Amino acid sequence: MSSARLATSQFATSFATQPAVAASAPGRVNLIGEHTDYNGGPVLPVALERRTAVAAAPWDGWRAVTSLDGAVHGLDVDGPFRRDWTDYLVGVVRELRARGAAPAGAQVAVASTVPVGAGLSSSAALTVATARALSLLAGRPLGAADLVEVAFHAEHDQVGVRCGRMDQTIAAHARRGTALLFETGTGSLEQVPFPGRIWIVETGVSHRLTGGALNERRRECEQALELCRAWRPGLRFLAHLAPADLPEVARRLPPPLVPRVRHVVTETARTRAAALALAAGDLAGVGRLLVAGHESLRLDYGSTVPEADFLVERAVAHGAYGARLTGAGWGGAVVVLAPAERETRILAEVSRDFGDRFGHVPEAWSTRAAGGVKREAIPAALG
Ligand code: GLA
Repeated sequence: MSSARLATSQFATSFATQPAVAASAPGRVNLIGEHTDYNGGPVLPVALERRTAVAAAPWDGWRAVTSLDGAVHGLDVDGPFRRDWTDYLVGVVRELRARGAAPAGAQVAVASTVPVGAGLSSSAALTVATARALSLLAGRPLGAADLVEVAFHAEHDQVGVRCGRMDQTIAAHARRGTALLFETGTGSLEQVPFPGRIWIVETGVSHRLTGGALNERRRECEQALELCRAWRPGLRFLAHLAPADLPEVARRLPPPLVPRVRHVVTETARTRAAALALAAGDLAGVGRLLVAGHESLRLDYGSTVPEADFLVERAVAHGAYGARLTGAGWGGAVVVLAPAERETRILAEVSRDFGDRFGHVPEAWSTRAAGGVKREAIPAALG
């Protein structure tokens, strides 16, 4: 069942009435361009066919339910956060209010087919879909650029995950059959045709970004930028450094910061090269860049886990074009690009090897590049 149908039927079950509006937004898999979006570099994500849907109707106050457990929660949109999924809803409500685009109150049902904690951006799917649904309810429907801002500030400023804008941007701007080359330093968006399938293999190691590893890396990058400015006054972003600047970086920065900068600079070059290779239909070339990107995350950024390293190594050994850990890291999922005629066999062999080594068969599934946020019709049976 689609997430939109699940959300609308959960709404009817929990609130004994029908929703007035519904909207959905996709999760994403980042092909390449990891930890560049808060450093002014490019990213190349693809929207998943798996989506999060939000159904809503006006109400006297705020309450919400998710189809995951069917429990209805009253929301205190002015109170302290509860440290669970409802914080993302509350964050969106506050950001909408600040823009005069929030309804006075609402009851909300959420359903999702995006795995949580797998580095596939379940949080941006939730915030972008919520922002769309609630702004519709308020009679102030927001366009894609405003949805990105509301969703970004909800997660970054309200919930406190120091993310960049990649996830919200792909959730709001994705077009079916394309990857999105988003230059975060300039805001430029370019659709790159992506007609094939992408495989996702979940490590089974769940991450929670509200905790801190991402925030810690971000602090390191800010510190590195500050130190670089001592010899490069006016440097806006780490991604503006060239590979030729790296020897100077190594001379001037404390040793632990050097590999962080090296990752950002080399990943920036790899991401632009991957977009060109993808546009030229050179999937083998894209694959080599993915593997180099994974090595950079492993050795320079320190954000991989052994399960992901193993999956990447096995995927390549069995004939994939390439693979790498996708999303923030410290768990999550690996993206695999494989020749269409051999992908099922390759994925079966990788899963078997993983099971032999780690004792469980990983979740492995594929997607095509899907579209972004959209309003959903309320099914006739309910409407
Ligand atoms: C998380 C953040 C993104 C991005 C990635 C790493 O998914 O939400 O903004 O920083 O990590 O590339």
